[in-house]
Amino acid sequence: MRLFTESGYDVRVVPTASALRFVGAPTWAALSGHPAQTDVWADVHEVPHVRLGQSADLVVVAPATADLLARAATGRADDLLTATLLTARCPVLYAPAMHTEMWEHPATQANVATLRARGAVVLDPAVGRLTGADSGPGRLPEPSEIFAIAATLLDRAALPQDLAGRHVVVTAGGTREPLDPVRFLGNRSSGRQGYALARAAVARGAEVTVIAANVALPDPAGAKVVRVGTALEMRDAVREAAATADAVVMVAAVADFRPATASATKIKKTSADPDPVELVRNPDILAELAHDRPRPGQVVVGFAAETDDVLANGRAKLAAKGADLLVVNEVGEARAFGTTDNAATLLGTDGSVLDVPLGSKDRLADAIWDAVAARLPG
Ligand code: CTP
Repeated sequence: MRLFTESGYDVRVVPTASALRFVGAPTWAALSGHPAQTDVWADVHEVPHVRLGQSADLVVVAPATADLLARAATGRADDLLTATLLTARCPVLYAPAMHTEMWEHPATQANVATLRARGAVVLDPAVGRLTGADSGPGRLPEPSEIFAIAATLLDRAALPQDLAGRHVVVTAGGTREPLDPVRFLGNRSSGRQGYALARAAVARGAEVTVIAANVALPDPAGAKVVRVGTALEMRDAVREAAATADAVVMVAAVADFRPATASATKIKKTSADPDPVELVRNPDILAELAHDRPRPGQVVVGFAAETDDVLANGRAKLAAKGADLLVVNEVGEARAFGTTDNAATLLGTDGSVLDVPLGSKDRLADAIWDAVAARLPG
């Protein structure tokens, strides 16, 4: 709620009876600047059970319990929040949080499927420590991540749900190839562009799997995150996820080479002249996938970083990899790696060229999904 109010949004809080056991109405009132509305029978002359939903630009239910999802899915209106959900015609975002068993129960999964089929955005919960001693899927995603999705929904109220019913896979970050237990060959990729793509795809209705190599950012809300370290681990994870994917966007910076052997023990500086490091080639995951296409009509997108002759090098790389689209970044001058902005050229095998001017990585993500959605079979 703080993130919304600090960004200038007018927030009305509708706590359920259970929510008030955790945070009291005066706290919500003080933080939102409006009385917390809890009761269908209070201020009846204002018809709050209808007015709140009708006037909202976005409804966010965070945390959404198993019970709330069940009541929303069956269309109950037994308290002010569920009445508001029935009258809202704006986007509705649910951020579920509950114990793993409750989340995985077929009843909850059926309720989530119902809500999604009706157009609601239901995030997958994050994986991690729960309220008890246990951990697993069921954690509330980080507030900043919920807010990022909500802001996207608000910004683009008419956001196309053109990825609804689609499974998309995004690789993010950079692989690390071990030399010994403490050292590796790696790169500076932060994972920001990949995570921006994942967020944008969630907001457009997709089921999203992110294969993250050494990313130190909060998990993108609503996406399934598979963690890998090396290029070989990434290849296995991509193969598994791509088997059911409609589109695969390979943003991760994958090491082209790895040390031929990784020492099981820490390498010591025993001699004045260090031993040379022998390298062997890693598989080209993108080229393999584009070649094998586990599903007909699957759209495969690669990224390329070029310092010079961007278009010619990009075209050659697109052909060599066999992808449908290549997003070419011009690097240098501190662009791309670790920054929040990005500019790129999207090259298509159909000969298309689209320049996306310097802007946020979120904007580039949207341009990429526009291009992917246009290529997905109907
Ligand atoms: N990629 C991959 N597997 C590799 C190397 C790269 O899947 N072993 C993917 C990246 O995820 C990205 C694209 O290929 O989508 C990047 O290609 P790039 O590294 O720029 O091209 P290279 O083939 O490595 O060519 P060069 O380094 O010579 O420019």
